[in-house]
Amino acid sequence: MKKEKKLYEGKAKIIYATNDKNLVIQYFKDDATAFNNQKKSIIEGKGVLNNRISEHILSNLSQIGIKNHLVKRLNMREQIIKLVEIIPIEFIIRNVATGSITKRLGIEDGTVLKEPLIEYCLKDDKLGDPLISEEHILAFDWASKTEIDNVKKMILRINDFMIGMFRGVGIKLIDFKLEFGRIKIDGKNEVILADEISPDTCRLWDSITEKKLDKDRFRKDLGDLIPAYTEVAKRLGILHEQSNITAVNVTNLSSVKRKKK
Ligand code: TMP
Ligand code: ASP
Repeated sequence: MKKEKKLYEGKAKIIYATNDKNLVIQYFKDDATAFNNQKKSIIEGKGVLNNRISEHILSNLSQIGIKNHLVKRLNMREQIIKLVEIIPIEFIIRNVATGSITKRLGIEDGTVLKEPLIEYCLKDDKLGDPLISEEHILAFDWASKTEIDNVKKMILRINDFMIGMFRGVGIKLIDFKLEFGRIKIDGKNEVILADEISPDTCRLWDSITEKKLDKDRFRKDLGDLIPAYTEVAKRLGILHEQSNITAVNVTNLSSVKRKKK
């Protein structure tokens, strides 16, 4: 597989073409952004951890029949993925109210929701990813009714699976964001899970202490983001001895860099 030109650079990842027109390389950067790019930083080692955590979750999801874009992880920062046409919607799934919904609707932080709540945001940085309804999606043809119905079914299965997976390692899945993409499989149009699932795109709280183990550590200036992401990876059984050393080195490296500045 040959890496070719850069196709797209987002806030946290870069997509490169390959010599296979159906496959691209997804590169995980260390850049962290929040509040629609208003807050920015580089957190050494974050991309490595997200690459591993996302690979773990997406390959587990594929084992329960959730089709997704992951082909295989290539190295510490890159994975080969299937080229899809991303549906321009961020699907947010909430089990517990926190973050933007508490401010938007005045809901008390930490309120456990009766049922998982799905919200839709238009994927448009210039507009600040505004909240939209299913009616907007249909009115402006951002996705079809069949696509939305399929995605909703997938979302609920993904949520059930991920709640169980995280609960098993002492973590509460509070909320998360998913993206889906269109692809032709055996001549048939399908919608599959795309992008990443990582502590950048989920809210993860320790089951007992409710310590935040996700990007809120950056959003809220809580510090120790790398140790928190490393903790998630370790609990999921991803970091074995060698990668463990890497993660420790990454932690040391970032503290050395911080001191130097
Ligand atoms: P919110 O409370 O800020 O709306 O975020 C809900 C969830 O979606 C949370 O797990 C973080 C994730 N998310 C992203 O992954 N990307 C985004 O651009 C936003 C706004 C949220
Ligand atoms: N990813 C979004 C940004 O870069 C928002 C967030 O994750 O809080 O601004």
